[in-house]
Amino acid sequence: MATGRARVAASILDADLGNLAHAVTRAERAGADRIHLDVMDGHFVPNLTFGARTIRALRRRTRLPFDAHLMIDEPGHYLDEFLDAGCDSITFHVEIDEEIAPTLERIRSAGRMAGLAVRPKTPLSALEPYRTLIDIVLVMTVEPGFGGQAFMRDVAAEKLLKARDYVSHRLHGGEVHVDGGVNRESAEFVGSQGADVLVVGSALWVPRHDMGREVRLVRALADEGFQYGLNDGRPPIPRDAMVTFANLPRSLAAPLADEMDAAGIPVLMLRGDGPGDAGDAAYVVLIPASAEDAARQRFGARATADPGRRARPAGSETDPAGPGGAIGEDGAAPASSGAGTPRGGRRKGDR
Ligand code: DX5
Ligand code: ZN
Repeated sequence: MATGRARVAASILDADLGNLAHAVTRAERAGADRIHLDVMDGHFVPNLTFGARTIRALRRRTRLPFDAHLMIDEPGHYLDEFLDAGCDSITFHVEIDEEIAPTLERIRSAGRMAGLAVRPKTPLSALEPYRTLIDIVLVMTVEPGFGGQAFMRDVAAEKLLKARDYVSHRLHGGEVHVDGGVNRESAEFVGSQGADVLVVGSALWVPRHDMGREVRLVRALADEGFQYGLNDGRPPIPRDAMVTFANLPRSLAAPLADEMDAAGIPVLMLRGDGPGDAGDAAYVVLIPASAEDAARQRFGARATADPGRRARPAGSETDPAGPGGAIGEDGAAPASSGAGTPRGGRRKGDR
């Protein structure tokens, strides 16, 4: 599993279409984080690829998450097939004539991530009516339809950072994807513009080329771009790192965890080792490090129990309220290491 921030989604558009099963297993072995599936209908774009039945057939060939990118006129009409095929996220284009909001709602109520894509010439403001309904904004940096085109840097510069705003209603897990011409030349720049998921197509399917090296290079360059372009030189927080948010008696920890979860922050509760009252033992509340700032703003006051009842000091390394309370001192679970997410700590959308 990748530790850094950026994620690479391998587009199989330029793979050997006669052997897609091999293509997805190859991408998985090369360390890609996801498979990006470009569905084209010959109307919305001047090209035809594959549909839901192909995706369904590929589903059992890999454990990687499937991101579907539907370049079709009527995603709503075919939606059930793509849901049944096992897509983890479904992104379609905002430029279609079909009604958009109901389709986004159906994707979400099926428990998948819903995304909207914008062509290079479409302004982000087209997403305005759907702000609260999307989990993903996919910024196209080539005209959709074909792999292997040149990266549009001006489009990336204009849109990628701003796109984040459209998923900011999610306290955790909203994603900006960049699709088109992403490779070792452009990866650092898109990283510096905060892209979360880099869709990489033709750069991966080069004969006699080491795909794994390409994936690692693109990911590392994107993280470097983020570190020096957006993060004051600090390395990005790995997506899988968890930190201690609070250490509370169960009677306080459980309702807090429920509320945070309902607000979109994945929470883990682990039994702590403090004394606690009889029947109200101490619990450690863990959250993804990347959600910590938002969580402190909204729930910070609840992280500290009445001192008389508190088993151990709350907080983490970055907690302004106090010194580190990282669990793991006793070997229970590491609190902030990308390599050591506690068992069961991964959630859908947290890859
Ligand atoms: C183009 C597709 C892309 C394509 C990217 O319409 O949406 O996903 O596979 O290919 P490259 O990386 O070659 O631009
Ligand atoms: Zn695509």
